[in-house]
Amino acid sequence: MILGLLKEHGDETRVTLLPENVKVLIDLKVKVLVEEHAGEKAFTSDQMYTEVGAKVVSRKTVFEKADVLLQIQHPDKGDVDKIKDGQVWISAFNPLMDTALVKQFLDKGITTFSLDSIPRTSRAQAMDILSSMATVSGHKAVLEAALRLPTFFPMFMTAAGTIRPANVLILGAGVAGLQAIATARRLGAQVQAFDVRSAAKEEVMSLGAKFVEVEGASEDKSAGGYAIEQTEEFKKKQQQAINDHAAKSNVVICTAQIPGRKAPLLLPKEAIDHMKPGSIIIDLAASTGGNCELTKDNEVVVYKDVTIIGQSNYPSQMPLDASRMFGKNVLNFLKLIIADDGGLNLNFEDNIVKGTCITHQKEIYNERVKSHITNA
Ligand code: NAI
Repeated sequence: MILGLLKEHGDETRVTLLPENVKVLIDLKVKVLVEEHAGEKAFTSDQMYTEVGAKVVSRKTVFEKADVLLQIQHPDKGDVDKIKDGQVWISAFNPLMDTALVKQFLDKGITTFSLDSIPRTSRAQAMDILSSMATVSGHKAVLEAALRLPTFFPMFMTAAGTIRPANVLILGAGVAGLQAIATARRLGAQVQAFDVRSAAKEEVMSLGAKFVEVEGASEDKSAGGYAIEQTEEFKKKQQQAINDHAAKSNVVICTAQIPGRKAPLLLPKEAIDHMKPGSIIIDLAASTGGNCELTKDNEVVVYKDVTIIGQSNYPSQMPLDASRMFGKNVLNFLKLIIADDGGLNLNFEDNIVKGTCITHQKEIYNERVKSHITNA
């Protein structure tokens, strides 16, 4: 099989595979074509890829010759038309949100895998790009808040007096939220976190943060560990608790998301009205609407001396380690579809292969995407 590693478009700085991953694939008898300058923004030269046995070629050649095309972002304008019958497209294209793209793939009969749909199971953990990237985002979000805050994070007892530690509130204690707690604690802040999943409480406490309790949250075991939409009564109670805590916080990190839906609104304008001047809100849910009412994706908004940062792609600000984690995840996934002779082996009996497959032979394979599109 020939694998084609494409250069990303726009502001994306990561690359799907680093030379260390390519070397493993070549040892598995796979041929690798790398689009010229693919790794440049992740500080990885074309020469580093050729040194491990890959061939550096033009984008046109990658599209013409590769059996499997790899890119992190969704296909660029016009790329779908370049994908030929029988080729496989692998990237993270958010099929629950970008249903128009899924329909395009379906119509053209292209086989596609979306790495953000890898099942959240123990066996798939080593392939879970969402966890890896959320780890980067949670960490970076706290560092950005610490840099922008007009006060210290840790407590200081100095000859010039005692400085109180910063109060950090984390909304959503999934992978990004837990990483944000860990980084904020390392920097010496006092941290409180809130989530609708009861399982999050223990994890929050084990990292030395306080869990904000609001009774009556709805959970659904069949949702694969994800949060579900909440009742109006719960939302009211939750809002009061969040408003009270936000008013006492210097930093709020928003991470709450529901797959395939708009992010829940947790910080309305009236909550920000009561926040301290100089406070920082970092909204990691910005690309799906944000948890904060005033968030603008990829923008910095200042409202009554509170700075609100809408940022959904922190991994691009740490391209080398983000690519390192992403590449290892992708490599582990690719191993499932590489036969002993280096050929392509799409075994749909494997629940990870089937769950990650979005379209194949004009059918939707991923169950969640299928019901989402059928019920839309
Ligand atoms: P996510 O990015 O979908 O959401 C972030 C957090 O926001 C979640 O903890 C969610 O419960 C919370 N949230 C959603 N709506 C909320 C609301 N209205 N108020 C407050 N919080 C709200 O979550 P992520 O990080 O992708 O993890 C989702 C689940 O998957 C977790 O249970 C996690 O433990 C599990 N997981 C399993 C893995 C595996 O077994 N391979 C790997 C990673 C995560």
